[in-house]
Amino acid sequence: MLSCLLSVWLFASSTLAQTAMFTRGQKFQIILTGVPDTSKNPLPPTDAPVFDVDLFNTDAGTIDALKAQGKTVICYFSAGSLENWRTDAKDFPASDQGKVLDGWPDEKWIRTGSAKIRDIMSKRIKMAADKGCDAIDPDNTDGYQNDNGLNLQQADLIDYMRFLQRTAAGYNMQIGLKNSIDILGTLSSIMDFAVNEECAKNAECSRYNAFLNSNKPVFHIEYPSKMNPVPNNDKNNYCSGAGTSGMSTVLKNISLDGLVIYCDGSQVDTPTRGNGPSRPPKSTSKPGTRSSTTRRFPSSSSSHRTSSSRSAVTSSTMITIPSTTTEEPPSSPPSSSPSEESPTPTPITTPSSTSTSTTSSSTQRSSTPRPSSSRTSSQRPVSTPANPGGGCKQKHWDQCGGQDWKGCTVCESPYQCKGVSPPYYYQCL
Ligand SMILES: *[C@@H]1O[C@H](CO)[C@@H](O)[C@H](O)[C@H]1NC(C)=O
Repeated sequence: MLSCLLSVWLFASSTLAQTAMFTRGQKFQIILTGVPDTSKNPLPPTDAPVFDVDLFNTDAGTIDALKAQGKTVICYFSAGSLENWRTDAKDFPASDQGKVLDGWPDEKWIRTGSAKIRDIMSKRIKMAADKGCDAIDPDNTDGYQNDNGLNLQQADLIDYMRFLQRTAAGYNMQIGLKNSIDILGTLSSIMDFAVNEECAKNAECSRYNAFLNSNKPVFHIEYPSKMNPVPNNDKNNYCSGAGTSGMSTVLKNISLDGLVIYCDGSQVDTPTRGNGPSRPPKSTSKPGTRSSTTRRFPSSSSSHRTSSSRSAVTSSTMITIPSTTTEEPPSSPPSSSPSEESPTPTPITTPSSTSTSTTSSSTQRSSTPRPSSSRTSSQRPVSTPANPGGGCKQKHWDQCGGQDWKGCTVCESPYQCKGVSPPYYYQCL
């Protein structure tokens, strides 16, 4: 009996050992704007075994469904910045908040060594485990390469990544290193994969050689100047540039929506839902960040958080995204996901002020929601009923309420004012 059990156990464990969750060259898809619509089964790209999705926006049901379709699910979250629209934003102590991220006004660097911050991240990692994620993709951990206001050093990042890895491993989840090639060598033994943005554009993909040789995947994202079609130089450089061989390369729009182009020329638009209201303006994409070494203090010209400020091409041509424009359905914090604690859509009430109620929608969009700084002051504006009507009507996607909101709180039909990130932000949806 015992030997029988033992052999079953041995069999099971050897099977497990054989099936590495991640291997070099795996095809992947990454979607941080919107959530994969798993009502489509099979969901394209059917031959991509790895999906990287937003931890907060993607509910457990979607993750289950992805896994049922054979996908390995990586859950993305920012581990090194405070995104002021997240449901746990109020838990970040003011004393642990540093400078605003260059080009991302709703985000601040955070003190990654702080016990309170680590506690928050532990909860996020638990959330990932509870939702069924197989692995985590913690972003923005490279504050040390930026003007962070907290004196973060490279050693802090190494220690922090070790902490994140231990915590994830405690739930049997794997972890990847986002960008930060400088510390790849130090951490490669405990990182299960890497996620890179723009190493080809920045001519540094070769630095992943050793990592790839250990049979771990590098999920490599490049943002061509144009998606449809991708210009030939971009494609050649991103798909065949030095060091890209063996990488899991995707060509994506910076918004990281459902559209993906692979180096074999195939193109897939993965159906998504909740496309519009998934993130606030200026943060539409979560393209990680400045990649490497050369970029300690990004110039102020960068309008998104990729390595754009290093590249004139990037910053001049690629930034057609929601980040700077007011065109897109901009705003809006995530958390439309059922499993999130995101409060139910409740009509909002805001400080009164009828005078501004007719502000144009574009103005309102660009006036960003939930000023993060307000959190640091002791008194938070209390929402009071006001202006219920006044003749104003906000359009689809417009902000219609939230802390400090002084504009119109009524939505035109058929939209309703919903709390997408209460108490900070409400939007006509
Ligand atoms: C990315 O998508 C946005 C929104 O759909 C679009 O306006 C923009 O032109 C796209 N960018 C590229 C490089 O294709």
